[in-house]
Amino acid sequence: MSTEANSDLNKKYLESYTEEAKRYDQHRWQNPKGLFAKNQRNKFFFEILSKYGLIAPDKKIIDVASGTGRVALELVTFGYKKVVAVDLTNAMLDVSRSKLPEQYKNNLDYHVADMKKLPFESNHFDGATLGAFFYLIPLSEYSAYLADVNRVLKKDGILVCEVMNQLHVFNPIKLIGKFIHRHIKGKTIKSHAYPWEFKKIFAPFEIVEVIGTDFPGFFRIFGDGFVNFLSKSPLTKYFGGRFVVGLKK
Ligand SMILES: C[S@@+](CC[C@H](N)C(=O)[O-])C[C@H]1O[C@@H](n2cnc3c(N)ncnc32)[C@H](O)[C@@H]1O
Repeated sequence: MSTEANSDLNKKYLESYTEEAKRYDQHRWQNPKGLFAKNQRNKFFFEILSKYGLIAPDKKIIDVASGTGRVALELVTFGYKKVVAVDLTNAMLDVSRSKLPEQYKNNLDYHVADMKKLPFESNHFDGATLGAFFYLIPLSEYSAYLADVNRVLKKDGILVCEVMNQLHVFNPIKLIGKFIHRHIKGKTIKSHAYPWEFKKIFAPFEIVEVIGTDFPGFFRIFGDGFVNFLSKSPLTKYFGGRFVVGLKK
C-alpha cells in the first residue's frame, strides 16, 4: 500500500471511530448474544496465551488497536500487571480509560499510535493481542500491518489475533454477502480470509493455533462444553464467523 493510501485509511478510521466511540460497546456487547460472543472470544485469547506460557502477572502484553478495551481490560482484571493499549483513536481509548477500575490504574498504559509505527523498543513485549481489526484492511496488507508488532515482540513471542472468516457457512446470508463483496464487487475492505490463506497473509509468523468462534447462538443451549468442542473440532471450526489465531514470532 502506498504511503498516501495508508494515511487515507488512517484518516478514515480515525474519523469514523472518533464518531463511533461512545456507541461502540452499546452496539456490540450490550445484549445477551453480543455478550456471549465477547466472552467466548476473549476466553480463547487467554487459552492461547496460557498454552504458550504467557499467563503470568509480570508478562508484558501489548494490545494493539485496543479500542474501547475489550481485550486490554480483561487482561488487567485477570491479573496482568504490565499491559499496554495502543490505538489510533484517542476517543476509543477514552472509553476504555473510563471503564478501567481504579485499582488497576497502574497496570494499563495507554498510547495513541499507529500500529505500523509503535513507540516502543524492539524485543520488548512477551505477547501481543489484536482483536477485531484485520477486516478493516486488505488481505494483502496483513503482514505489513504486523511488521512493527513483530519488531516489538521478543523472540518466540506470541501474537493472538482475530480474523473474520470468509467461509461463514453457519450464516448463509453473510456467506453470500461476503462472496459478493470479495469476488463480484472485488472489494478488499472490509476483508475476510479463507482458512487456507492464513499462511500467506501471516508470513513471516508461524501459525501455532486456530480456534473457530461465532457459531449460531442456538448452540449455547448445549452448554459451554459443546461450544468449546465445536470451536476445536477439525471440521466445524472452519465454518464459524471468525477465528482466534495464535502466531509465533
Ligand atoms: C473494530 S475496532 C476493534 C477494537 C478492539 N480491539 C475490539 O476488539 O473491540 C478497530 C480499532 O482499530 C483502530 N485502528 C484503526 N487503524 C489503526 C492503526 N493503523 N493503528 C492502531 N489502531 C488502529 C481503530 O481506531 C479502532 O479502535
